[in-house]
Amino acid sequence: MYFDIAKEKAKNLIDKKSALILAIESSCDETSVAVVKDGRKILSNVISTQIPIHTLYGGVVPEIASRNHTLQLTSVTEEALKQANVSLDDIDAIAVTQGPGLIGALLTGVNYAKALAFSKKKVLIGVHHIQGHICANFLEYPELEPPFIALAVSGGHSHILKVSDYCDFSLLGATRDDAVGEAFDKVARVLGLGYPGGIKIDALAKEGNDEAYNFTTHLEKEDTYDFSFSGVKTAVVNLVHNMEQKGQEIPESDIAASFQKSVVRMLIQKAIKAAKDTGYDKIVLAGGVASNSRLREDIKRMCNENNILLYYPSPVLCTDNGAMIGSAAFYTLMQGKISDIDLNAFATGGLDEFYRK
Ligand code: KG4
Ligand code: ZN
Repeated sequence: MYFDIAKEKAKNLIDKKSALILAIESSCDETSVAVVKDGRKILSNVISTQIPIHTLYGGVVPEIASRNHTLQLTSVTEEALKQANVSLDDIDAIAVTQGPGLIGALLTGVNYAKALAFSKKKVLIGVHHIQGHICANFLEYPELEPPFIALAVSGGHSHILKVSDYCDFSLLGATRDDAVGEAFDKVARVLGLGYPGGIKIDALAKEGNDEAYNFTTHLEKEDTYDFSFSGVKTAVVNLVHNMEQKGQEIPESDIAASFQKSVVRMLIQKAIKAAKDTGYDKIVLAGGVASNSRLREDIKRMCNENNILLYYPSPVLCTDNGAMIGSAAFYTLMQGKISDIDLNAFATGGLDEFYRK
């Protein structure tokens, strides 16, 4: 009964090519709700971060994240509607991050979205988190359209994707071990910078000498789009521990700069290779690590040299947020892929599989 109504409503939206979407993101430590029009226009994007809570523990504690999402979801939703100057009745569809992410955290958003959709007989759209990160770019660049190469780099993912169309993704390469954001966070922790570490390494590296240490990255010279970050991470950890044992002072900024340089070099090299090999002339950065200033500067230079257009979102849209989910949901809806009330969260799974289901 619910799904028949939702399917009929979705059909109308697809015919009109228009939808006002309320989008919910709760995959990790940000509770965020946004209102997005037609996949491109942000009416509101409220982000309630839990970083101060998790900082106490040096990283995200999944159970605490879930509890805080539950506490925050209603008020963040009310605030998003208020800032957008719309009511729930004006909303055409409810979108929610279905995965990947922390399963308990995801379930809080999924269940909340299902309750809203069911009680108000709205279309429900489950969204893949990485598609959301990529679509953040559509919110800032009205002219941007596929095809392009996406470099999706976050705390949980390091992917190079061939994006042939809005919902047509092929995975070209991925990390074989740690995600790049994870490596940044681990190095920050060993340098005593605290959580979340990426942004702190980025800032500290500006004061350091990036040639002080030569951290070579495995797979850099190999003919693959895959990445590997655990080797460089371990090299930093061992270096710091050895220096500590010898009672030496740790040159934190030099280590941060040298580490960042080697990691960024690997990301850029593979992304440029993907663009050249596919003949695509656009690269899109996505995810929390896309805020990294060295990555942005160096890839911009490399793209210029190779006649490739480069796009990256402003930092607030690189981090987890509801607006990016609202954008992705619009394109998912336009494909006719809507969800029934048995929608479930998933902890792992790639974008290409998501659209094969
Ligand atoms: O996309 P995101 O907000 O959450 C996930 O989906 O994982 O990404 C968070 C990751 C963290 O590992 C964080 O340290 C990293 O992005 N990050 C950065 C920077 N800002 C955030 N890494 C390097 N440089 C930055 N400026
Ligand atoms: Zn994310």
